[in-house]
Amino acid sequence: MPEPLHLQVAGKTDLTPTVARFVLRDPRGAALPGYRGGAHVTVTTPRGGRRSYSLVEAGGRAPREYVVCVRRDPGGRGGSVSMHDDVHVGDVLEVTWPANTFALRPAKRYLFIAGGIGITPVRAMVAELRARGRAQVELLYLTREPGETAFLDEFGADGTLLHHSATHGRLDLWPYLEHPDDDARVYCCGPTALVEEVQALTAHWRPSRVHVEDFAGVDALGGRRTPFTAVWAPTGARVAVPADRTLLGALRDAGVEVDASCESGTCGTCRLRLLDGDVDHRDLVLGAAERAGHLMPCVSRALSEEITIAPA
Ligand code: FES
Repeated sequence: MPEPLHLQVAGKTDLTPTVARFVLRDPRGAALPGYRGGAHVTVTTPRGGRRSYSLVEAGGRAPREYVVCVRRDPGGRGGSVSMHDDVHVGDVLEVTWPANTFALRPAKRYLFIAGGIGITPVRAMVAELRARGRAQVELLYLTREPGETAFLDEFGADGTLLHHSATHGRLDLWPYLEHPDDDARVYCCGPTALVEEVQALTAHWRPSRVHVEDFAGVDALGGRRTPFTAVWAPTGARVAVPADRTLLGALRDAGVEVDASCESGTCGTCRLRLLDGDVDHRDLVLGAAERAGHLMPCVSRALSEEITIAPA
């Protein structure tokens, strides 16, 4: 991992009563590491939490700024509230290099389905594709009401289907997903319920044509949960991980110290090395190549009865 960047907050504006937009620049005006649409950065908030936010502007090789939008979530773990309440123009924040687990893949047609603040990576991806001008791009942007809709003016005028559930109820997505299309790709980002609905409605599609990102992070104890043993290579300690405990929690119980922040598979802090065994990777951080040798113990579990792990 490259050393984190230290970026100055060059702008902070409210897009809606709950969504703030932050512009981050190098204090000396240097160009920043490039990225493609769908990428995110991880920001260390003033209260110390590390949170991942999608970059909302179209990607480029040497951008002059990163722009992220943060929805205030008073019921969350404090990261968004710290960004809203504690960050001011002129402050310097630690920010990772961009990473992309939601990258654009080639297709003739794209259907984007964005729910609420899930518009943030989608906005960058749609802008990039439209600038290239070679593919057909359709966007469904679902929010509760116009007052809660970030970038309302922009998407109201560009042919996007803007749907507000408070006035029109839930949008029936089946007509958009009924016919699988090997020349198309579906990208969905939004709350867990929307992501799960799209996954269910595309169960008859080729899995490789459907891409989802759940910005709420990962439920560490959801899905398949079987007990397993983790061998901590530096000491040889054998740590039992029960079905109702995360690997991170079990390691801590056993006195193994592992740094962690988001505890939802989105920030990259808790990364460990995988020396042996098969892993059910559930994080939103590691790329396909990295998964052979690393894992995120806050959300990922073993598929084999035993795995051997070590500090990253
Ligand atoms: S603590 Fe953030 S990915 Fe595990």
